[in-house]
Amino acid sequence: MGKLAITGGTPVRATPQERIEWPQHDQAECEALARVADSGRWQQGPEVSEFEEMFAAYQHAKHAICANNGTVTMEIALRAFGVGAGDEVIIPPLTFCATGLCALMVGAIPVFADVERNSSNLCPKAFEAAVTDRTRAVIPVHIGGTPADMDGIMEVARKHDIKVIEDAAHAHGSEWKGVRVGAIGDIGSFSFQSEKMMVSGDGGIMTTNDDDYAALCDSLRRFGYGYPEPLMTSNWRMSEFQAAVLKVQFTRIDDQIARRMKNAQIFFDRLGEIDGLTYEMDERVTRLNGYNIPLIYEAEKFKGLHRDKFIEVLQAEGYAMSGLYTTPLYKGRLYQEKLFGPSWVGDKHGREIDYTKVHCPVAEKLAYEERLTISHGRNLMGSAEDVNGLVDAIIKIQQNVEEIV
Ligand SMILES: Cc1ncc(COP(=O)(O)O)c(C=O)c1O
Repeated sequence: MGKLAITGGTPVRATPQERIEWPQHDQAECEALARVADSGRWQQGPEVSEFEEMFAAYQHAKHAICANNGTVTMEIALRAFGVGAGDEVIIPPLTFCATGLCALMVGAIPVFADVERNSSNLCPKAFEAAVTDRTRAVIPVHIGGTPADMDGIMEVARKHDIKVIEDAAHAHGSEWKGVRVGAIGDIGSFSFQSEKMMVSGDGGIMTTNDDDYAALCDSLRRFGYGYPEPLMTSNWRMSEFQAAVLKVQFTRIDDQIARRMKNAQIFFDRLGEIDGLTYEMDERVTRLNGYNIPLIYEAEKFKGLHRDKFIEVLQAEGYAMSGLYTTPLYKGRLYQEKLFGPSWVGDKHGREIDYTKVHCPVAEKLAYEERLTISHGRNLMGSAEDVNGLVDAIIKIQQNVEEIV
C-alpha cells in the first residue's frame, strides 16, 4: 500500500469533488419564462431584441444578432461572406466539431493550421502558411475563453483579404487589449449551450461592427425577410423564451467570472510549488472569463507519468482536470474518411485535401500529451479550499510518483 490513493493510500479529498450544478438558475428564470408564456408572443420579438442590445454592449460590438445555436451562427457568417463550394476556410485543430462543420455545411473546405503552445489557439504564422488563392475565411477559436492572438490574425487576414469569424463560443466577457472578443474580427459567434458561460439550453449570437453584415445576418436567420434581395436561406431564429432566460443569466455573469478568476489566482499563486505544470498568458489578454485555464503538463517532471494517467491518479485523490480536446479535429473519422455526404461538393469545385496527410505537430503534442485544463464546471466555481486541495493533490502526486511509474 502506497501513499497515493490509487495505490491504496488516503485520498486528499475524502469524497470526490462534485461537478458544480450547471446551468444555474433561480426564481428569476422561472418568472421570465412565465412572463413570456403570458405575453402570447413566443416567437422572436422584443425579448430577443432587448437581449441583443445588452449583449452587443457587453461585448463592445455595435450589433448582436441571435440565432438558435452557436454552430449556425458561424454558418450564417460564412453565408454572409459568400463563402461556398470549394472555398477554403482555415481553422485550428483543437476545437469542437462545430468550427469545421459550419464550413462543410456551406460546401467549403476546412483547412487546418497549427496552434500556439501556450494558448492552444490558432498561430498567425501557421495561418499565413496555410493561405492559398482559395482561402476566403478564417475561424480563430478563443478556446476555453482564452483570446487568440487577434493582432497577428487580423494582420494576416487583412493582408490576404480574408474574412475573420471569431469562434467565441467559450469566451463571453474575455478581452484582447481592452476590447471584448467577437468585436475584433468581421463577425463573432457565441454559444448559449448548456455548458457555456450563459445558458438558454441551446442558443447562439453573432456580433459585428459592420452595419451591412448585421442586416444580412439578421435576414439570413429568418428566411431572408427584410432583405432587399431574395436569399436562399433557412429559419434559425431564437425564441422569446430563450432570450428571456438569457437576460436573467446576464445578471450573474460578471460575479461568476470574478469568482472563477479569484480561484484561478489562488491556483496561479501556488503554481511555483509544482515543477512541470506551467501557465503562460499573452500579456495582451486584458480579461479572462475563467471558462478553462490552459496549462502545460510536462511528463518528464513527473518521472514520465503520462498526462492521461496523471488525470486518473488525480481523480483517485478526489479532483478532476482534463485535457480539453484530446484529439485534433482532423484525426476524427469524419475527416480521415471524408464522410461529408453527397451534398458536399467542395472538392469538385476546389482543391482536393487528404486529411490523413495533415499534421499539426504542436496541436498533436498538446492533444495527446501536454494540455491540462482547469475547467469552469468544477474547480473554478468551487471554494478556495477546493483550489488549495487540488494543488495539494498535484504536489502529493509529484512527491510520490515513483509508486506508479
Ligand atoms: C468551440 C466551440 N464552437 C462552437 C460550438 C457550438 O455551439 P453550439 O453548441 O451552441 O452549437 C461549441 C460548443 O458547443 C464550441 O465548444
